[in-house]
Amino acid sequence: IPVSKFDLVLFGATGDLARRKIWPGLFHRFVAGQFDSDSRILGVSRSELTNDEFRDRLREAISVNGDDKAKLLDQFLSLVSYTSIDAKGERGWDVLAEAVRTDSVRAFYLSVAPNFFGPIARRLRNYGIATDESRIVVEKPFGHDLASAKALNAELRECFDEHQIYRIDHYLGKETVQNLMALRFANSLFEPLWNASHIEHVQITVSESLSVEGRGEYYDQSGAMRDMVQNHLMQLLCLTAMEPPSKFKPNAVRDEKVKVIEALEPVDARDIARGQYRASKEHASYLDHAGDPKSRTESFIAMKVNVANWRWAKTPFYLRTGKCLRARTSEIAVYFRNPPHMIFPGIDTPMGNILVIRLQPDEGMTLHTTIKDPGPGGMRLTEASLDMTFADSLAQDEIVQDAYERLIMDVIRGDQTLFMRGDEVEAAWAWVDPIINGWKDRNEKPQPYDSGSSGPEDALLLMHRDGRRWRPIG
Ligand code: BG6
Repeated sequence: IPVSKFDLVLFGATGDLARRKIWPGLFHRFVAGQFDSDSRILGVSRSELTNDEFRDRLREAISVNGDDKAKLLDQFLSLVSYTSIDAKGERGWDVLAEAVRTDSVRAFYLSVAPNFFGPIARRLRNYGIATDESRIVVEKPFGHDLASAKALNAELRECFDEHQIYRIDHYLGKETVQNLMALRFANSLFEPLWNASHIEHVQITVSESLSVEGRGEYYDQSGAMRDMVQNHLMQLLCLTAMEPPSKFKPNAVRDEKVKVIEALEPVDARDIARGQYRASKEHASYLDHAGDPKSRTESFIAMKVNVANWRWAKTPFYLRTGKCLRARTSEIAVYFRNPPHMIFPGIDTPMGNILVIRLQPDEGMTLHTTIKDPGPGGMRLTEASLDMTFADSLAQDEIVQDAYERLIMDVIRGDQTLFMRGDEVEAAWAWVDPIINGWKDRNEKPQPYDSGSSGPEDALLLMHRDGRRWRPIG
């Protein structure tokens, strides 16, 4: 669906995220015909570059095959211009004020470090560049703890209303993450079973094979808990556990997510396994990448989380994420309870029903069921899976849309459903802070694990203790 004419100003236009995700994403949406042809995108950063020099950089960042695409890229670049600005000073702001138009949707995307959020927001207001209708988009990390998240919210709200603020968690833009809502709330099949009476436990895994090489300095200040759990895994947990919202509207959905976060029990230290990868043939150790031989930051975390409400009492959610693991694979696996009584002689444990929602790669879903082993030989049971892969239902030249593309178009449409509200982010930090503080107080060291493995021993023990097993990674 085409979006209205817009002026998008991208701060941090020469940065890594912009180069890898935002510019290519915008180009894809342009090719898909979603832009009004009078829209404009203005790249902003500190570097002194001419429009042509900047466009040449974009040509390198956006790879295209074939003459047709090259022509489209030229057309796309004709919508793009560049301004150099001193984000914390006064240079360049007048030029920006001249460049934005009054009759288009104005969106300001801050792909910059959080200490720039306040200074940029204030200047956008002071120079009359942003209006009450403008939108401001910010990236993670949204704070480092509850206090810093509150301070960032306060800084942004000095200049913008909550309905103008779009806090990105790119996991919410993933096709399969949204599919989770469709699956739960557009089918009558699952919802009656979606509770502790029928679901035994849930496993949420976001496993990465990459190391933190090149980002060690940032990552060492964060660790897996801040980098992944506080935001991405929390969002997956919320969408899996929340009550059905009454409508698919921003606040209806976000109200339900906040209730889940507020229902999370504090986590017992025994229910957490932290790990740090050690060297392998392919990778140096975490300690080398972090640049601090004594670092106690975790590159892996597994934890058991209880959602203390009627729907989920006694059905734990196990979360797991880490770097340098065996494979890149993200999924939500919902384990249904076994049948209450087995009528087939000699078989006490059926294979069980597991609904696996594959977030990436190979986006899709599998429902594991138990069936009769076909053929003669009497009533023997075996496992069969009902399988759906997203790629199969797309036309040949379509690809699963990248999360950033969708989210940026939602900003232009003014749809905040897939963005985090301020109170949601704060609630997540309020739950995470005591856990991290506990590690600090106990001076806890993460357990080493081999790169290319499934994580540390403690993560396996955490499950074994409860008589359960992790699904294999990859
Ligand atoms: C980012 C984290 O937010 O998400 C990275 O900072 C992580 O550490 C990345 O690698 C994972 O995103 P995706 O889309 O590749 O699963």
